[in-house]
Amino acid sequence: MQKLKNLFQNNKEWVASKIHKDPQYFRRMAEAQDPLYLWIGCSDSRVPANEIVGLEPGELFVHRNVANLCPHTDFNCLSVLEYAIDLLKIQHVIVCGHYGCSGVKAAMEDHRLGLVDNWLRNIRDVYAHSKEDLEKMSDPKERYNRLVELNVMQQVLNVCHTTIAQGAWARGQPLWVHGWVYDLSSGTLKDLDCCISSADQVEAIYRIRLSK
Ligand code: CO
Repeated sequence: MQKLKNLFQNNKEWVASKIHKDPQYFRRMAEAQDPLYLWIGCSDSRVPANEIVGLEPGELFVHRNVANLCPHTDFNCLSVLEYAIDLLKIQHVIVCGHYGCSGVKAAMEDHRLGLVDNWLRNIRDVYAHSKEDLEKMSDPKERYNRLVELNVMQQVLNVCHTTIAQGAWARGQPLWVHGWVYDLSSGTLKDLDCCISSADQVEAIYRIRLSK
């Protein structure tokens, strides 16, 4: 007996509606993808990347993990980044966090959750780095929201510190790295205005000379 019948039924209906609108839809999809953007977002089920920005399959390359991190030792995220930039030639990397992120919340607390605590350690580092400013905020909600934003900004920097982003700039390949936050309660996106688009915007110690 087939399990999760409802999902297969949904799939059947989805296929039918796509073909109804465009009989060649799946033939085109099978040929190639040509996305302009890479989305690095949270795994949270309430933050569906394509839907939020109104993009169709084939238009957005997506990587999601708990609390939208891009640590310099994570070969999963780095492999996605390299494939997106070097092979797909995407021009925009969007790191998108969200208010109400339980990963960020857990990183502000001392409960043991398990393996994920080691992953969330990256956010504790962000907190420690901005401890003074964060602890000036008396409203815990405000502090939580600010840490969500600071975490996004740090991940933007992490992307820019990679040999992958810097390699693109050294080759003259256009690349913008954006930091955004999604608001679950309104559905809107906020641009944190921390976009980086060239190696000279990167702090000197993280710059790697990659041109010949
Ligand atoms: Co989250």
